[in-house]
Formats: sequence, C-alpha cells, structure tokens
Amino acid sequence: MPLVTSTEMFKKAYHGGYAIGAFNVNNMEIVQGITEACQEQKAPVILQVSKGARAYANHTYLLKMVEAAVIECPDIPIALHLDHGNSFELCKDCIDGGFTSVMFDGSAMPYEENVKVAKQVAEYAHAHGVVVEAELGQLAGVEDDVVADDHQFTDPAQVEDFVTRTGVDSLAIAIGTSHGAYKFKPGQKPQLRFDILEEVSRRLPEFPIVLHGSSSVPQDFVKKVNQYGGAMPDAIGIPEEMLREAAKGAVCKINIDSDIRLAITAAIREHFALHPADFDPRQYLKPARQAVKDMVTHKLINVLGCNGKA
Ligand code: G3H
Ligand code: 13P
Ligand code: ZN
Repeated sequence: MPLVTSTEMFKKAYHGGYAIGAFNVNNMEIVQGITEACQEQKAPVILQVSKGARAYANHTYLLKMVEAAVIECPDIPIALHLDHGNSFELCKDCIDGGFTSVMFDGSAMPYEENVKVAKQVAEYAHAHGVVVEAELGQLAGVEDDVVADDHQFTDPAQVEDFVTRTGVDSLAIAIGTSHGAYKFKPGQKPQLRFDILEEVSRRLPEFPIVLHGSSSVPQDFVKKVNQYGGAMPDAIGIPEEMLREAAKGAVCKINIDSDIRLAITAAIREHFALHPADFDPRQYLKPARQAVKDMVTHKLINVLGCNGKA
C-alpha cells in the first residue's frame, strides 16, 4: 500500500485502547530498524522527520528511504509526518514534497498567532489530502538546541476553541513529558498531569491526542553508554506504565526519538569497546540497527499496544 495519512490509524487506536508509535528518522539504519520491527509485529507506524533531520539528511533522501520501506513492508500502513514544523512555508514544503501528515508547532507563539497559522496550514494540507497536528502548551526540554526549563501545561479551557477554529486533525498537549534524555531530576518522582489529559479528552470527544517527549530512556542503554566511555549521568525518561496508561485513552500518537538515539549510541559504544580494530561502518551500524529494531519491538508490544493492529 502507498504512504497513508494517520486518519484511519488514529480512529482505530482511539477505539482500540492503544497508540501508534511515531518514531523520528534520520538515516537508513533507523528507517530499517523501525520498519522491520513494525512489519514483523504487524504494527501501523508513523515515521517522522524534523527540520533538523531534513537539514542533516535531505528531504529527498528521507522521502525515498521511507518509500523504500513502504515497498519492503507491504503488510503495514506507514505515514510520513513532519515533526515540529514551525512555519507555514516548512509545512507547505513537506505537503508539496510527498509527506502525508505535518505538525504545525506554534506552541511558542501567542495563542491567536498559533490559531491563525495552524488554520492556514490545515486548509492547505486538507486541500492536498494531508492531515495536520498542532500543539497547545509547551514542553520543557531540548528542542532544536533550545532548552526550555519549565513546562507550560496545556490549558484545557482553550482546546475546543483551538480545534474548532483551526480545523486541525490531532492535538499535541503538554502534561509533563519533555524532549531529550533528562526528563526528571534525580530523586524526583516522575509524574504526568493525567488530570489535564482527562479534561482535554472530555472536552474533545473522539479527538486524537498526541504526546511528545515520550521516550522512556531505558536504563540498560544508559548504563551501557556510561560503561563504555559515555557521559550521560542521571538520564531519566517517562515510565513505560504511564505511557501505557495514556495509550489506553485518547492518546493515539506517542513520539519517540531519544530512545532511538540511545539504542544506537549504546550499541556503537559497546562495539567499539569490544572490537577496537573494526573500522568498516557496517560492522558497527549493523548492531546499531538491530538495537533500534529490538527497542521498537519492545515498545510496540509492551508500551503502545499496537502490535497486530495493521
Ligand atoms: O522533538 C524533537 C525531536 O527529538 C527531533 O529532534 O530536531 O534534533 O531532530 P531534532
Ligand atoms: P523524546 O525526546 O522523548 O524521544 O521525544 C521525541 C519527540 O517528541 C519528537 O517530536
Ligand atoms: Zn516533539
């Protein structure tokens, strides 16, 4: 099947009590690791490309690698999504350039400006058969090299007005998740504002909600990174059971990038430490790709619950 939008995926996920994994892709091994896991597990998937990914790998390379995955994985629906598009022009570029879904992220803008541009993106996207995610509230953490210290939780009182006026198809909300590998301070009890999620879903029945910043930062990866010369003390993620809980309700899309970075870094550091003479990239990229595949397989089955749903 060709690239699809997330519309059907979200409808089924909403009513089926699971979520779709949205994994960031930056190179071939990442695309392969994710999609091989999804093909084996018969899981629908969203592959997402950030502005930084486009700057690193080039729009066409990423598009063509994802199209190759579509051919190699004939049994599963795959959507190609722009992650954190921060302008109409960037979203338009991806809509015109073969993506089936875009995020317009106006979360740093004043509310009325966010509404205005999100509506403009939604109108253009819908006219071209593409769906749109927008965001209300702001996540803490690192995004495009900018560090935000504090969460600005989503105000549930704004969501109906925002969704009605913009016409967007899904909404990312801030409930305490954050980007990057340092989501909580050491000793701090991980907490998410499930009360906000509940109130948002009450106000937006049947509407797909998105969680960004949802890597779990598996401690076996962190240990391995540190054991083999890395320096990631106190890297902490969102507990898997909290994500599982969110996936049972209105959360239909869960964004994961840092866990991919960690899986790759741990595998490559280990490989170099154990095989210092190796210098063929295939020797260390192969275990890195396998580590991504194993990590994604675990998520599909134990966190997202989307295995067997293709
Ligand atoms: O939300 C941010 C994603 O992890 C993408 O990160 O902009 O460094 O590619 P990036
Ligand atoms: P993580 O940094 O938690 O993986 O979040 C990724 C993300 O939200 C991409 O948009
Ligand atoms: Zn994000």
